Amino acid sequence: MNLPGTPTRWYSTITPLERERALDKGARLLLEGGLVAFPTETVYGLGAHTFNPQALKKIFQVKGRPPDNPLIIHVARSSELIRVAEKVPPEAYLLAEYFWPGPLTLVLQKRKDVPTEVSCGLPTVAIRIPSQPLARELLHRINAPVSAPSANLSGRPSPTRAEHVWDDLAGKIDAIIDGGDASVGLESSVLDLNSSPPVLLRPGGITREQLEECLGKKITVTEQSASSSPSSPGMKYRHYSPQAPLYLLVGTLEKIEQKMKELLMEIENRNITAGLLCSQENKVGLYFDGVLIEKLGSREDPGYMAASLYNSLRRLDERGAGIILAEGIEERGMGLALMNRLKKAATEVIRVS
Ligand code: TXA
Ligand code: MG
Repeated sequence: MNLPGTPTRWYSTITPLERERALDKGARLLLEGGLVAFPTETVYGLGAHTFNPQALKKIFQVKGRPPDNPLIIHVARSSELIRVAEKVPPEAYLLAEYFWPGPLTLVLQKRKDVPTEVSCGLPTVAIRIPSQPLARELLHRINAPVSAPSANLSGRPSPTRAEHVWDDLAGKIDAIIDGGDASVGLESSVLDLNSSPPVLLRPGGITREQLEECLGKKITVTEQSASSSPSSPGMKYRHYSPQAPLYLLVGTLEKIEQKMKELLMEIENRNITAGLLCSQENKVGLYFDGVLIEKLGSREDPGYMAASLYNSLRRLDERGAGIILAEGIEERGMGLALMNRLKKAATEVIRVS
């Protein structure tokens, strides 16, 4: 357990010996009620034993997480669903068969014995099986469900590398298991199966199109804001934000480039360092000196762009951007999840066409 002054331990997993030690220590700490950050294919999670309310409370403390934002439960196999959920509908098993292990979270009826700290008083729980091999092995070893939000300070971009977790939480948690870069790089899709049709509460690593194809029907997509009724409370908070104000430009690439040029000229006169978050097709950076540029990848490959988003947001902060201009893309496939995060990070969305 993390007593005051106890440093956070960092476990590398490069050699087989290191990997073994990391999993062994990680599992032991979780069983003792500690907090362990571990890699998943989406983002790093900050894990605690699901049936240890004290450990769950610590998650909220160290992250500065609002008390009404429930946690996702991670399990090793579908048969464990019934340890935390009840009245599991057939659709859940169908989706599990298609997409687990993987970046899909299902919201189901909660079993009464699951601590209320997990669900923040809701009658439901959110569950997924991660596919990252270290996460799976860790879950197998402790043989218990692990509750884990993203391992960042609340409001900061989610961590896609162990270093990001260290920057936000060193000295506050017991251990970090370093599994390298997260391959998906954006959080899981959260699908609520308690209404018909099911509701996509958070777009993520499994696309709306994939879910609809599997279920053979349309699903509803919610755009939650502070004013809407919070069935997925997490979505009402400002999220994923860099320190600098971010302006998201939406429209055709040509119109976005034109508007970016105008804005950069204004910013130049104000002695502020601008950062650009854009696709590799965007050429605006060529016309300005001293602009910090983070290219996410090609507009043709939104999945690749999504994987680098959080690291690029953190990089722009580190490099000293005073203001960030971000290029929007089409809200299809992984583009829907990418745009969802950019809109939540944005101070303002500017439509240019
Ligand atoms: O990819 C992920 O899902 C990552 C990794 C670590 O698994 N976890 C993650 O957790 O993103 P977090 O805490 O950052 O986001 C959890 C989301 C929030 O939007 C929360 O409101 C929603 O899941 N959620 C949790 N329980 C819920 C419930 N019972 N009903 C509706 N939404 C729920
Ligand atoms: Mg989060």
